[in-house]
Amino acid sequence: MTNSQLYNAIFRRKSTRKYDMAPLPADRLVKLKEFASNARPLDESIRYEFAYLGSADVRNLLPIKAPHYICMYSEKKGNYLMNTGFLLQQMDLYFSDNNLASCWLGMAKPAKGVPMLMNGLEFVIMLAFGNTTEIIHRTNTSEFKRKNLSEISSVVGADALLEAARLAPSASNTQAWFFSGDLDVITVSRKKLNLLKAQVYGKMNQIDIGIALFHLGLSVDHIGKMASYYFDEDVAPNGYEFMAKVKISKNDLARIR
Ligand SMILES: Cc1cc2nc3c(=O)[nH]c(=O)nc-3n(C[C@H](O)[C@H](O)[C@H](O)COP(=O)(O)O)c2cc1C
Repeated sequence: MTNSQLYNAIFRRKSTRKYDMAPLPADRLVKLKEFASNARPLDESIRYEFAYLGSADVRNLLPIKAPHYICMYSEKKGNYLMNTGFLLQQMDLYFSDNNLASCWLGMAKPAKGVPMLMNGLEFVIMLAFGNTTEIIHRTNTSEFKRKNLSEISSVVGADALLEAARLAPSASNTQAWFFSGDLDVITVSRKKLNLLKAQVYGKMNQIDIGIALFHLGLSVDHIGKMASYYFDEDVAPNGYEFMAKVKISKNDLARIR
């Protein structure tokens, strides 16, 4: 699976909430698990593991049932939520490119009896996946319900580059990201939330930023440049919280496989 395939998936992917409950053939599972085991983290210092669950192993308040789930278990430190978004979004795009349906599930948890802790790593979030009879791909980016670039960016001349980040999925489609800076260094910030909203979306929106960072990284790779990520606290626009800086350099040594 190439970066170009993942990049192209950004413009077609969508969430699916109705699945064919027949399990996928073993060879498909082997292939996707192999891809998952080669996923690239945002922060290599954070230990994590993926676990695969079946429908009986998951409890979800919403009636979304799927034959398979991929779960992220992670060390709870530093940027683990952004790291989670960055890693699992690689799976979301992989599924889309392989004609499999998927959906991020922030509300779902492992069922009773399925551990929340594994080898010292804590359950973070899961993605449902499988076959569906529904249409898996969008045919046009106008089908995405997203904010306009002018609402989420002040970077001059970066419209084409940021389109991939604009289209990223987010919890309840909150799109809490903001991009500032210039074409060499883009600052990615997150909307500050009031106490009530922070309880609901505080964690999810950090996962969302990781998703957007992965999309942006693919977009940088698409124009033949290299993205490097920095997390040292920096200024953010009013009403936003600093999350990361993406340095864009001329280097054909691609950071994202
Ligand atoms: C971190 C995260 C958590 C999500 N949790 C849920 C969920 O619990 N239930 C659900 O139906 N969709 C969930 N979604 C899917 C979003 O609602 C969806 O991505 C968004 O509305 C944009 O639609 P699209 O993915 O079809 O482009 C989640 C998405 C993300 C990124």
